[in-house]
Amino acid sequence: MNLPILLRKEKSSYNTTMRSKPKQSFIINGLAGDKKLEGEVTINGAKNAALPAMAASILFDGPVTLENIPNTDDIETTSNILSSLGAKVERKDHRIVIDPTHISNTNIDNDLAQKMRASVILTGPLLARSEMASFPIPGGCVIGNRPIEQFLNAYQKMGAVVEQPNGVYEIQAPDGGLRGATIFFDLQTVTGTETLMIAAVLASGKTILKNCATEPEITSLAEWFNNCGAKISGIGTSTLTIEGSGGKLLQPVTPYRTIPDRIEAGSYLILGALCAKDIVIKDCEPEHMESIINLLMNSGVQIEVGKNQLRVTNIPSSTNDSFKSFNVRTHEYPGFPTDLQSPLVTFLTQVSGDSIVFESIFEGRFKYTEELIKMGADITAMNPREILIKGPTPLIELPEGEVLNAHDIRAGFAVVLAALVGKGKYTVNQVHLIDRGYEKLEERLTAIGANIMRVVN
Ligand code: EPU
Repeated sequence: MNLPILLRKEKSSYNTTMRSKPKQSFIINGLAGDKKLEGEVTINGAKNAALPAMAASILFDGPVTLENIPNTDDIETTSNILSSLGAKVERKDHRIVIDPTHISNTNIDNDLAQKMRASVILTGPLLARSEMASFPIPGGCVIGNRPIEQFLNAYQKMGAVVEQPNGVYEIQAPDGGLRGATIFFDLQTVTGTETLMIAAVLASGKTILKNCATEPEITSLAEWFNNCGAKISGIGTSTLTIEGSGGKLLQPVTPYRTIPDRIEAGSYLILGALCAKDIVIKDCEPEHMESIINLLMNSGVQIEVGKNQLRVTNIPSSTNDSFKSFNVRTHEYPGFPTDLQSPLVTFLTQVSGDSIVFESIFEGRFKYTEELIKMGADITAMNPREILIKGPTPLIELPEGEVLNAHDIRAGFAVVLAALVGKGKYTVNQVHLIDRGYEKLEERLTAIGANIMRVVN
């Protein structure tokens, strides 16, 4: 716990501008409703499990190995933040080794934090290990107002002092480190649960976290911590009890193996329903995907569920309008995930009848529907959280010069999917947003027969 700490006002030496990527687009030739993609798609490790696991490396006494890490831009950003804090990060293929031994900086770089909201997770392990953390209001996807008061309230309950001079949060743990506390989250927050669980692992005394999120990513993280010396009970439930180690670091006895990305797998499942003759989605975890599998099957999509794979087929005589419409409301796990809401709306533009989609998690997550409407989809906003989709509508060619935009990671996938279904040649801009969550999307789609190309603008 006695680590060198830079003064709060010192700036990290990390230069983000050197690494900014050129603007890129996808050029997609639509299939005009044909369902002819064929082959296999192998699912990567979940970015939303890998990100907190990378942050949690700060809790360890020596280098930590993380396996099955996707090569997405959010992983790159987190690697860069960890490096800027003084950790040694070595990335090769889908493996990362992080050595937190020489972490000396507790200021999360402003430019890097603006790239992704999940940067806020790093405050938990920094506070736990170095007893202070400073960070700007985090950026990330523009999917609604994303406050962090649940994190700040919880840190205060653990004895920390939170200040916000000049728009930067500065958090100082009490002398002797964070203290165990009973914390009730006012709402279920995935990153909030992960961050406070991480912080509590090294705290002194017992922490009880109530009304926790129960996403599989949290469960896998907690199980790994326990294998490395933590004492967490209630794993997989909404109440987690953590017996803090009083500052004793975790031992890197076992690597972290990232669980399959259920959102990536669900995205390809929806794509299969709309565009594939026969695709197999390999290395996924169907048990984590029950809500999307049930909805699609009930709508008429042919899905074979295996142990670690899913197969989607469209028999030659079936047509788009043989799928039935349905209503859906996004929900915390195991309900229907908000991260599949936008790809599912693309699906619903192609089914027979009216569907209503209610977004209960993020209030700003329908902006992308503008893109689908440009292509001819019949979507009406009933209120900021609810839309009505009338289907099926053919997705048409856009006028010369008109482009499609990826509004966030998942909306980007939804728009790519619409372009694949559509009748025309489309340009999808802001591909860097898609790259935050989907590794090499164009290569994987090309491998199953899609006509998609990445171009640098
Ligand atoms: N919230 C607050 N205050 C807080 C924290 C959260 O009001 O202090 C609200 C949020 O504004 C939102 C709700 O609580 O309305 C749930 O947000 P949550 O904190 O669970 O979201 P998150 O942890 O920031 C993670 C995923 C998101 C995913 C959501 C919901 C990561 C890195 N991100 O975000 O993933 O949409 O949970 O499942 O795990 C994505 O991958 O594209 C993505 C956006």
